[in-house]
Amino acid sequence: MSIGARLEAALRLLKTENNLLFADIGSDHAFLAIEVIKRSIAASAIAADINEMPLLKGRENAVMQGVDMKFFLSDGFKAIDTLPITSAAVCGMGGELIARIVLESNVCKSALLVLQPMSAQEFLRKALWDNGFCIIKEEFVIDAGKPYTVMQVKYSGKSTEYCYTDLYLGKQMPQTKEFAAYCEKILNSALKRRQGITARGGDTGEVDRLIELCQTQTTSF
Ligand SMILES: C[S@@+](CC[C@H](N)C(=O)[O-])C[C@H]1O[C@@H](n2cnc3c(N)ncnc32)[C@H](O)[C@@H]1O
Repeated sequence: MSIGARLEAALRLLKTENNLLFADIGSDHAFLAIEVIKRSIAASAIAADINEMPLLKGRENAVMQGVDMKFFLSDGFKAIDTLPITSAAVCGMGGELIARIVLESNVCKSALLVLQPMSAQEFLRKALWDNGFCIIKEEFVIDAGKPYTVMQVKYSGKSTEYCYTDLYLGKQMPQTKEFAAYCEKILNSALKRRQGITARGGDTGEVDRLIELCQTQTTSF
């Protein structure tokens, strides 16, 4: 089953020792959970979605792929937060929703997390760093021509210090063409934000530093 560079990155970042129970939150087609079992990344898997239709679709796909797993109707981790989950993915949703789902859950304080925001990445990084979560690794990928970030996250209980540019670009800044493509996307939104700040007569210092950093990254590839 071909699942694309975005979910392939999520699978790479989900590998951890003693991975007994994986939870795919916002599972939709359940491709991630199905591949986790087929590739023996975890011993068992469950899928959770807030809507019935995606759960039906996921069930059908699991049957077709010969994968035995359970499905739950759940807002984030709410219906499964007492299960002994060792790893979980929350992929393909907005950064604000992912932050809410992670911060409301108890399981997220012990499980290895893989988070893949489609928007508001800066909001998600801030929420994680302010609330004791550590971004261990960030992989930047291009899938169907679009750049994405995929984060491997673990709770440490200690908040992380950051600056404005860290929120938008992360702290790792790999020198890859995928990261350059991500920077181009961030650059475009930063240029628009700068126009708004200038129109309001505000201070453009922080956004100017971000623009400069993005330009350096995009021209190095
Ligand atoms: C765009 S799909 C992403 C599917 C898959 N995770 C991926 O990355 O390809 C988003 C899914 O999240 C589900 N969803 C949205 N809000 C949710 C929530 N609060 N809790 C659980 N699932 C949610 C939607 O019903 C939808 O099936």
